[in-house]
Amino acid sequence: MLKPISWGAVTVALALTLPVLVQAASPKKAPERGYYDVSRLAPLTDQAGDPVNGRKLAAGKGLCLSCHVMPIPEQADHGDVGPDLAGVGSRLQPPELRLRIADPKVLNPDTPMPSFFKKDLNRLPPNLKGQTVLTAQEVEDVVAYLATLK
Ligand code: HEC
Repeated sequence: MLKPISWGAVTVALALTLPVLVQAASPKKAPERGYYDVSRLAPLTDQAGDPVNGRKLAAGKGLCLSCHVMPIPEQADHGDVGPDLAGVGSRLQPPELRLRIADPKVLNPDTPMPSFFKKDLNRLPPNLKGQTVLTAQEVEDVVAYLATLK
């Protein structure tokens, strides 16, 4: 005669394997902090960053000069809220630069530096709601520019 099934054992076995199965079946959830997966510091695009455009963005749309001294002498009035970025390409590797631009709040929740690649920031003008300040390619361009500051 077959041994009667021990339902207790079945329940225990299910309880142990079910979470694993469910996790394997469901797609990977986006990280809590939202838009940028900090465990993945690889380039955001396939196209290499353009340092010349990155320099333009730093002096223009990125507003980096309002807080940082940078080797961009043609523009006056560099701010000093953040550190001087001359030589930053020697201090930080591209993945570190990328994280600091994409979402510096990951490193320092109290930083005044904006997260340039995060959606739904609170203090954005209405026309930028749901968008990032810089596009993925623009982040790469700025990273490429900063990497030249040795
Ligand atoms: C509102 C001011 C502000 C703006 C705008 C700003 N930053 Fe910053 N940034 C800071 C501050 C302050 C720090 C110092 C680190 C911190 O607060 O966590 C910093 C740190 C950095 C660092 C790390 C430097 C180091 O030596 O460790 C980099 C790189 C950087 N910023 C790049 C940029 C770039 C590129 C832009 C423009 C796209 C920019 N920042 C715009 C305030 C700003």
